[in-house]
Amino acid sequence: MCGIVGAMAQRNVVPILLEGLQRLEYRGYDSAGLVVVNDKMLERVRSTGRVKELASRSADTQGQLGIAHTRWATHGAPSIKNAHPHQSRDMIAVVHNGIIENYEELRARLKSEGYEFTSETDTEVIAHLIHSHYMHGNSLLVSVQTALKELEGAYALGVIAADNPNQLICARRGSPLLLGVGIGENFVASDVSALLPVTNRVIYLEEGDVVEVERESYRIFDAHGKPVDRAVQVSEISNESVQLGNYRHYMQKEIHEQPSAISDTLESVCNSTSISPGIFGADAAATFSEVNSILILACGTSYHAGMVARYWLEEIAGIQCTVEIASEYRYRTSVPNLNALVVVLSQSGETADTMAALNHAKDMGQGNTLAICNVPESALIRASKLRFLTRAGPEIGVASTKAFTTQLVALFLLTLVLAKQRGRLVQETEFVHALRHLPSAVQKVLDMEPQIATLAERFASKHHALFLGRGMHYPIALEGALKLKEISYIHAEAYPAGELKHGPLALVDKDMPVISVAPNDTLLEKLKSNLQEVRARGGELYVFADADTLISESDGVNVIQMPEHAGYLSPVLHTIPLQLLAYYVALQKGTDVDKPRNLAKSVTVE
Ligand code: F6R
Repeated sequence: MCGIVGAMAQRNVVPILLEGLQRLEYRGYDSAGLVVVNDKMLERVRSTGRVKELASRSADTQGQLGIAHTRWATHGAPSIKNAHPHQSRDMIAVVHNGIIENYEELRARLKSEGYEFTSETDTEVIAHLIHSHYMHGNSLLVSVQTALKELEGAYALGVIAADNPNQLICARRGSPLLLGVGIGENFVASDVSALLPVTNRVIYLEEGDVVEVERESYRIFDAHGKPVDRAVQVSEISNESVQLGNYRHYMQKEIHEQPSAISDTLESVCNSTSISPGIFGADAAATFSEVNSILILACGTSYHAGMVARYWLEEIAGIQCTVEIASEYRYRTSVPNLNALVVVLSQSGETADTMAALNHAKDMGQGNTLAICNVPESALIRASKLRFLTRAGPEIGVASTKAFTTQLVALFLLTLVLAKQRGRLVQETEFVHALRHLPSAVQKVLDMEPQIATLAERFASKHHALFLGRGMHYPIALEGALKLKEISYIHAEAYPAGELKHGPLALVDKDMPVISVAPNDTLLEKLKSNLQEVRARGGELYVFADADTLISESDGVNVIQMPEHAGYLSPVLHTIPLQLLAYYVALQKGTDVDKPRNLAKSVTVE
């Protein structure tokens, strides 16, 4: 979603701002803009095109202090007038990520005070509010702090004033923002990847923090206005890890990074034969011994990972598990189980619905919380009692791939730890061995890429597709359908195969490709009968089948042989060809694979 970059230096910051925006493009946006202070004037450039267009429009813009933004429209259509930065009377400029909930009331008040609004955004009220305090003689810092007290909702903010070329004020509540610490220059950004060309020393701001940034120094104030010290951390993310390298798209790169992402995730947590609760935090053993059920909360792809885990947790660990879509759970009147372990899953750790669901669970007294997340220091990690960091590395493509498979690995580890604690883990060494073998098993599936690329040609002209799976592979069918729809824009549905005859079979004809996940498990024979139901109605089948399933090719039945069966870990392997299929179908269709229309990477608003 929206991205913020700000810079203060003794050099022209426009190239830094543009490079930063380009690196935030993956978050999703529909317009972009920047503003610099030059000779006590604000110089603003905005565009509804890509960052490249903004760069050509700002070729003559220069300044040593500036803020920049990519906007993902919420209030008001994508247009120049709604693009950030927003200004108040050529004095105050603001970039904002988040949503101001009481903006209508503030807008009415500010209008009555004589402020003119030029956009439909909620952000413009912030610019005018700060301006009103600034004009009363307050410093920029105090003006921002006073304005923030009147705002309801979520924000990450960067603020500058035309007559103050030496200060940039930034603040966060509910939306991510970090400070980049340079030598004789300082920066702010929504995420660290934006700043890697200029610094890897960062301070992750906490909820309610306001920062007065100057060239050589910065002062951080907490939510109560008290000066605080926050640790400077050296980001582990390297500049190379966010470069595309020889790949055509980030999604392709990230699909191929899965073997290393999985082994990195396993690296620090399981020795050769056993695993311990400590991998989820120092208090994990005590917490796990108190819990009698699991509640998993997540959105989108992360929700699908949770759905797979439900099968593992109930079958292997013998612990009752429910999985809920975070945006539903947060508004539902549910009956809290105070002995449940609430597990929040998120690649970004900043998803507004998942964060709100976690807070809702905690407000209802469910204090045993575990975040499984790919971003250190994210809001979700900080708000949870226990934590597990997947080590997928930065995921730039909007469609989640390596974050999903590493979440599955983390959830499998959780299953093993809980099973062990409950005396149910008789095959610990075998499971650990299977986990250690997983990266090479994934690599073998990746080697199927040329075959899947050829297969994808047959999907490009289709308008719909149906995905089938059973048991713990049903969520994999859901994930396959989600990948296909989000990047190729082909309408795709997923069903548990046994559900076909209860309705969706009516859709099946020669124009409806039916993709099935066919692991060699206990439900195989049932699945085969379901596939017969499809074939009997003239449906074209594409079956990703494990060895020894004895599903053979015939007219209308295309079998894509998987290299090996991975037992309980089979969902990880079966995910890979579906990611590749979606990727190659999108290539055929010529869509913007890494930045699919209307979507954003970090969904930091509701
Ligand atoms: C789909 C996708 C989304 C995210 C969802 C949750 O490919 O990426 O469905 O999974 O927006 O995001 P996180 O995991 O960051 O909470």
